[in-house]
Amino acid sequence: MQNITTTATWQQLQQHAEQTNNQQMRDLFEQDAKRFDKFTFTAADLFLDYSKNRITEDTMQLLLQLAEEVAIKDKIQQMYNGEKINTTENRAVLHIALRAPKDKAIMVDGVNVIEEVHTALANISDAVNKIRSGEWKGFSGKEITDVVNIGIGGSDLGPHMITEALTPYVTDKIDFHFVSNVDATHIYETLKTLNPETTLFIIASKTFTTQETLANALAAREWLEQKATNKNAIGQHLIAVSAKPERAIEFGIHAEHVYPFWDWVGGRYSLWSAIGLSIAIAIGMEHFQELLAGAHMMDEHFKNAPLKENMPIIMGLLGIWNTNFLNCKTQAVLPYDQYLELLPKYLQQLEMESNGKRVNKEGEPLNYSTCPVIWGSPGTNGQHAFHELIMQGTQIIPVDFIFPKQTHNPIGNQHMLLAANCLAQSQAMMQGKNEQEVIAELMEQGLSAQEAKTLAPHKVIPGNNPSNTIIIEKITPKTLGSLIALYEHKTFVEGIIWNINSFDQWGVELGKQLAKKLIPNLEGEATTNKLDASTAGLINKLI
Ligand code: F6P
Repeated sequence: MQNITTTATWQQLQQHAEQTNNQQMRDLFEQDAKRFDKFTFTAADLFLDYSKNRITEDTMQLLLQLAEEVAIKDKIQQMYNGEKINTTENRAVLHIALRAPKDKAIMVDGVNVIEEVHTALANISDAVNKIRSGEWKGFSGKEITDVVNIGIGGSDLGPHMITEALTPYVTDKIDFHFVSNVDATHIYETLKTLNPETTLFIIASKTFTTQETLANALAAREWLEQKATNKNAIGQHLIAVSAKPERAIEFGIHAEHVYPFWDWVGGRYSLWSAIGLSIAIAIGMEHFQELLAGAHMMDEHFKNAPLKENMPIIMGLLGIWNTNFLNCKTQAVLPYDQYLELLPKYLQQLEMESNGKRVNKEGEPLNYSTCPVIWGSPGTNGQHAFHELIMQGTQIIPVDFIFPKQTHNPIGNQHMLLAANCLAQSQAMMQGKNEQEVIAELMEQGLSAQEAKTLAPHKVIPGNNPSNTIIIEKITPKTLGSLIALYEHKTFVEGIIWNINSFDQWGVELGKQLAKKLIPNLEGEATTNKLDASTAGLINKLI
């Protein structure tokens, strides 16, 4: 595929960026009363306001032209058809199949994967209902009161984020815990609060080789073995979810407690599969189906909506504009909703593990930037932590604000205050406060003209910092499913334009290999003389 930067459209975008570099968003709003109407729309019950970006209609026309140039609609169809677009692993990429209705058909290697998906959902449903109803008993005949999901990365972040985001829908009969870090503190602090008679462990691992997960699974099994009065029944407390079921059985999980999924489900795209078992137990199968339905609604929108009203495409193109033409190195996601506290962490893996790549699909080094650093935390807390940098720092920091119109917890006027803060931050980032406004304000406060002029530079806020605002009626299983699918597809759009493989993650293998090699050194069974001086020196500090 042609290097995207050599296309006429890319070069027109570069010129356009130079020509509009000093354009102020506040002026654009003053010049066009219809700006908000032009740059807002709804898809799958999500409302997107992208008018506070450093764009004009010409910018969007050129970006949409770029999407046409990479034949984005064909690329979407290829993914939906089950083509093996994950070229380095020769795999299809079919998280959309996990939420497709039963009557659809997608063939992979001659098999209709939709049928398999719905068979798997029925199996999961059986376990979910038994656990939630109390029919599933522990070794002493008691009901399950605590579920511990043991997994990391995509086998943790999705389940944890969704379960927390949907707290209002979580059963009050069972508590949910998520253990991921190999630091024993994580499982220690979890186990010390639990009763082995009523605790169920879900060992979630696509490969079933991940060091952290196996270490924690071993600790959990040993805890059960020590505590269980009936050793033969600890199988009742262990479930596995994996694309390698044979490895789970080898570990000692009873075959009927192993819930498989498929290689064509990427780890960071897997919460919709059996990896979402903890979610389904928490919120019930009906709500889990709503989560899937919300994602499917966004899938259909992504496939069918014209480019100009296609939310993942618009958000992906804005990401390209900010990264490759405004030279932004980070992207903040600020959900103004405490239940969405884990969303930025989830999106870090989704976007940075997908698009943190340096070579194109043909293996050639890139001469342009790819994925920015994704970060964020729930508003309003960030306003008292890092907003100073956004307001008066030396970088442009694109922000996605996410706000639910309705709260699950109406107390006093606090949801209105949350709204006021969310909108004010987006407004302040756009319009800032110029020197003239600062001086006038300071003099109104009684400072002399000279005092005001001296202090002003320290109080000027340049503004012109881009942001999107997504308004969701209410965070429900369905709207949350649509929101997550929106970001999955936005990530896909950016990856296509960058011509990278968004679905492998070879970069994480080296660290895993080196960690394994250092174990004998740290156990004092191997000399460090072949290691670099720093690693050798640090090991010698530790043993
Ligand atoms: O970080 C590397 C990675 O392979 C992720 O892609 C994945 O989500 C995580 O580790 C856990 O992998 P597994 O589900 O196979 O244990």
